[in-house]
Amino acid sequence: MLNTNKIRKFFPAIKAGRIVSNNAASTQIPVQLLDLLKKLSVKYDNVHRGQSDASMATTKEFEAAYETIAQFINAPSVKNIILYRNTTEAINAVMYSLLTEFKTGDNVVTTFMEHNSNYVPWYGLCKEILPKFGIKVECRLAKFDKNTGELDLEHLKSLVDNRTKLVCCTGASNFLGTKNPIKKIKEIADLSGYKQPSGEKRSYLLIDGAQTAPNIFIDVKALDIDFFVWSFHKMLAPFGVGALYAKEKLLLGMKPFLYGGDMIADGQVTPTKVGYNVLPWKFTAGTPNILGTILSAQSIRLLIDFALWPGKNVYFMSDKKLALADVKKAMANISEHEKDLMTEALNILQSIEGLNIYGPKNPSKRTSLVAFNHPQFSPFKIAENLNKMGIESRAGCHCATLAHHYYKLNPPASCRLSFYIYNDLNDVKKACLAVKKILTNK
Ligand SMILES: Cc1ncc(COP(=O)(O)O)c(C=O)c1O
Repeated sequence: MLNTNKIRKFFPAIKAGRIVSNNAASTQIPVQLLDLLKKLSVKYDNVHRGQSDASMATTKEFEAAYETIAQFINAPSVKNIILYRNTTEAINAVMYSLLTEFKTGDNVVTTFMEHNSNYVPWYGLCKEILPKFGIKVECRLAKFDKNTGELDLEHLKSLVDNRTKLVCCTGASNFLGTKNPIKKIKEIADLSGYKQPSGEKRSYLLIDGAQTAPNIFIDVKALDIDFFVWSFHKMLAPFGVGALYAKEKLLLGMKPFLYGGDMIADGQVTPTKVGYNVLPWKFTAGTPNILGTILSAQSIRLLIDFALWPGKNVYFMSDKKLALADVKKAMANISEHEKDLMTEALNILQSIEGLNIYGPKNPSKRTSLVAFNHPQFSPFKIAENLNKMGIESRAGCHCATLAHHYYKLNPPASCRLSFYIYNDLNDVKKACLAVKKILTNK
């Protein structure tokens, strides 16, 4: 279990009295990372681009950040970790890097519960980019159960065939809260029989981990995922860094998404031939978000410290390799805490007559977010009223536009509350009772 009382002390936003309950969009920054940013700001230089002590020290910290990020998801090495600006850019990177491998008759299977970031790139590929080259590829969408919020695995299975190059699925829905069964989805992708250029006969699996990595332990090795993407601004770090994990053999075969500086091998540029850098730098064109990368890795270290021994810096700012057992335990504590928060939230929200609550009824089947609608109130009005009562929520489609249309919502919108490690039961009670007050005046 989490010691929320201790954790809250490290968050200036919480100490300022805010009830931060829009965490599925972005989380808040702890004081340790703010201090670290200040410290780094007076001693950094660019990475891989200087001989000064400052440049070499920054390069060391920057490269160490890749080690931490790899260890967090049990990736075999830093060669598997490519950093982009966010989840969206990481998914686009996969799309552009695989672009030249698609053949007429291929398909991509994704789902109705995706964030637009894991649907629109595939839509763009199939409807706008490949047709310009005379290549016809279909984008297929698997359904989910409107009542339980669970992915329809039978339907997914029926869509995947021996022309499915890629199955793209979210690890957890940012609208329904549903945690998807990654193992089962992987089995479906594995059995497709699609002949990849490497000779492998199966579909690749891309998991959108934006709502998964901050809340649930993900072991990319054990799950044997091909591509896993997430953003650090949803797990305590500042904005600006997202990660792509990919299997090394895939990255070796893939084209770079961005071309330019640092992704080329030293000296290997001539008018007729360019040689690429080794992994992961082959995919790191131009000066990266250096400070953001260092802070993102430290946000992982801090998250584990918070979840296991808040106030004690065992991993934060140390060289200690992340022990897989500690990552597992820390993430299990976070999941358990979120289950408790969701139990409370669902209890209160379910007592509001007429309220439609989306997603699984069982709190252990969901992450710590809950979206709802009331037939008599606009979700935007609910969110505005919540704001007046000091509760931060989000109304809209949360970029899960397909799913909102799937429910035939007009406008395609719902109101969502989402919690994280610094929220306690009191926050949840206040937020959900405020919803009740707005809707029932009780
Ligand atoms: C499931 C899911 N995928 C993708 C994204 C996009 O993340 P980003 O805006 O960091 O690219 C989000 C953000 O809310 C999300 O919840």
